[in-house]
Amino acid sequence: MSGPSNPWTRRRFVAAGMAGLVLSACNGGSGSAGGGTNTPIPDTEEPGPYQPRGIHASFTEDSHSSRSITWFTDGLDAPYSRMEYGSVDETMSDADIADRVFEFSVDASAAETTGVDALTHRATATGIDPEKPMRYRVGSDDGGWSPVYVIPPSPSDEWSFIHFGDHGIGEMPQMLTAEVMKNPSDLLLLAGDLSYANGEQAIWDTWFDQMQPLMSQRITMAAPGNHEQKDFDGDTFKNRFTHPPKPLTSGINPDGPGTTFYSFDYNRVHFLVTTAGALINDGTLPEELLNIEVDLAQAALRRARGEIDFIVVMQHYTIWTDQDGRSPMNPALVLLEENILLRYGVDLLAVGHDHVYQRSEKMGFGLPNPLGYVQVLVGTGGQSIRIFDDNGPQIWSASEFVGVGYCKYFVSPGKIRGEYYGAPPLDMSDEGRQYTTGEFALRDSFEIDARSQLACEMCVLPARGPDILLADFEAISQHTRERNHRILSHHC
Ligand SMILES: [Fe+2]
Ligand SMILES: [Fe+2]
Repeated sequence: MSGPSNPWTRRRFVAAGMAGLVLSACNGGSGSAGGGTNTPIPDTEEPGPYQPRGIHASFTEDSHSSRSITWFTDGLDAPYSRMEYGSVDETMSDADIADRVFEFSVDASAAETTGVDALTHRATATGIDPEKPMRYRVGSDDGGWSPVYVIPPSPSDEWSFIHFGDHGIGEMPQMLTAEVMKNPSDLLLLAGDLSYANGEQAIWDTWFDQMQPLMSQRITMAAPGNHEQKDFDGDTFKNRFTHPPKPLTSGINPDGPGTTFYSFDYNRVHFLVTTAGALINDGTLPEELLNIEVDLAQAALRRARGEIDFIVVMQHYTIWTDQDGRSPMNPALVLLEENILLRYGVDLLAVGHDHVYQRSEKMGFGLPNPLGYVQVLVGTGGQSIRIFDDNGPQIWSASEFVGVGYCKYFVSPGKIRGEYYGAPPLDMSDEGRQYTTGEFALRDSFEIDARSQLACEMCVLPARGPDILLADFEAISQHTRERNHRILSHHC
């Protein structure tokens, strides 16, 4: 598998100088807690009639040796496209990164993009050198080629991820994105309510265009939020992202839609991403609940065996909250979900939905509990800034912030250290909360230690079946639908 030779054009020669920024960033990526910076190499683009756009990176297989790239082209008749890729060696010059012939080429799948005349392309590189950055471009000779991008390698020991939700395309979301661009991480987790397209599919294109400089070079995994339901009950989310298959299936259908609930390992951390019922109209919630149970039961067993240190769940909805109008919780689905999270000892619950920052103590059922989970609510992607309930923080709450911001987690053996960076609104009035000062600063820091061996062993329990988990599903379904409807009708 080898790609065609690249013409040594003057334009590409000029571009080589910029590539040095990328090369120096990549050299620092391996083994650090920072990962690479995001520096696009736009001058390596080769424009064409079907120019790749909205390029973003994820993985569907091993987090070290595979990378999946997804992108879009306008119209329904783009030529067959592919990804060309290879490793960046220390001996490569800036010009080499920009212009050397790629070692490998893999064909992309193509499917109609949901709701617009465009195609969604997917390609996965497997078996890449896990020690080296991967450089790549996507497109076709007849349709046009993207710039050359570089994704740093995934570190093995100390590494980091960033999490936020409730983003959008306005000024505050773009300020937040710029801050995240300046702050490297090895993984980006998006906790739903991503573009706020609300059925207007062109807004998704704007969001992906705005996010391309970041997500083309930073591996991103996303959860659907309630606003994703407005885009064909979640079909747009499935179409435009590429994620691992749901836990209880094996194999990947590259032509099929992406999944909305899935799990993956990144070093010694197991991640499970759920919908928390955000897409209940697609009919998969019963299946998802059974998947969650089995996935977490397996993860708890692996943790007790010493194979992993932590179990992290990311979803859009909070379990508990103090946002004004939403406090304290959502009883039906939440009770079942929280029961599952506590049963298997989930360590960290990364959520969005409420447009505030709130971090809990280790907790369970609304009370501090050393055997519980830490909920980190980062609904501060910038779509709007909300305030807290007048009744004040509940007993489980450890930190609160009103503004725009993101949480960065530094993972080392046996420990996750979190740092929340936020910028306040101009003031706390309804008008003042339409804008931020842009003064991002550290607003909260915390640590989560790995559980003791005894605590891990307490979470090794058999997965329950539908007779227990779905016994009250009718009530759960009705309540979840009512919640989703109430929330969407209030434009939250
Ligand atoms: Fe939401
Ligand atoms: Fe939201």
